[in-house]
Amino acid sequence: MKPIRKAVIPVAGLGTRFLPATKAMPKEMLTVVDRPVIQHVVDEARKAGIEHVVFVTGRNKNVIEDHFDRQYELEDTLKSRGKVKELAALEADTPGAGATSFTRQQAPLGLGHAVWCARDIIGNEPFALLLPDMLHLGETAFLGDMIEAYGQTGGNLIGVYPVADEETHQYGIVDVAGSAEKVAKIARMVEKPARGTAPSNLAISGRYILQPTIFGLLSRQERGAGGEIQLTDSMLTLARSEPFHAVRFDGQVYDTGSKLGFLAANVAYALANPELGKDFRMILKSLAG
Ligand code: G1P
Repeated sequence: MKPIRKAVIPVAGLGTRFLPATKAMPKEMLTVVDRPVIQHVVDEARKAGIEHVVFVTGRNKNVIEDHFDRQYELEDTLKSRGKVKELAALEADTPGAGATSFTRQQAPLGLGHAVWCARDIIGNEPFALLLPDMLHLGETAFLGDMIEAYGQTGGNLIGVYPVADEETHQYGIVDVAGSAEKVAKIARMVEKPARGTAPSNLAISGRYILQPTIFGLLSRQERGAGGEIQLTDSMLTLARSEPFHAVRFDGQVYDTGSKLGFLAANVAYALANPELGKDFRMILKSLAG
């Protein structure tokens, strides 16, 4: 079984839901507590053992590339001022030389198309896919749990978490045929089911482990829901010939692509922060009271 070494993170989205905040700044650079959303996601990937991150970017996203580069002037200044802790934190957050790639999705043709844009950089090996809007707050890096599960199941895996019945129409939904196991075989998969028709309330959480055969299917460039090249459509085809498992996340998932999800993420991550949590809890209490 080939190990999971590389991860794809699509960051080409326009972020129209966050205007005017995202007029000149990519939505992935909005901060949750003290780091950009995208840094939280890259941290999760690196904790899970990912060696190389492929960013699928678009116009106006250059600052993401700069963010994951080293900044010699800043490092020198921190060094000369004796800011050892800040310097060490900066170094720890930055992937090493050659551990990132950037390629562009030239037109907004859908998630399936964004993933397909990474095909040459991924090559013929299984890979992880992380959607940067979705933050997973839990005891361990969720992608790490998924890679562990992959060691048992092989094939393809999708991260899932339970959502309220009224929210199922906003997500990809998978059905595990009644299994209560953390890792379960997927029986059905449907992208954004019409209200009241979802086969379960397990939503795709934006974490995937996929075999490179997906690229062959994506290259057909078939349009699905909303006229976009949907990843879920190719996964459905792939599921006919390869195993697909769901891995349930038992922590909290925050959809930072929505304003409320973004605000909730900031509160939850601040409360979980070892330096800020205690004081922030007091502030929250007095605000709410
Ligand atoms: C995408 C996926 C969907 C998944 C969701 C998670 O949808 O297609 O299956 O549940 O991400 O955020 P999007 O949010 O891009 O519409």
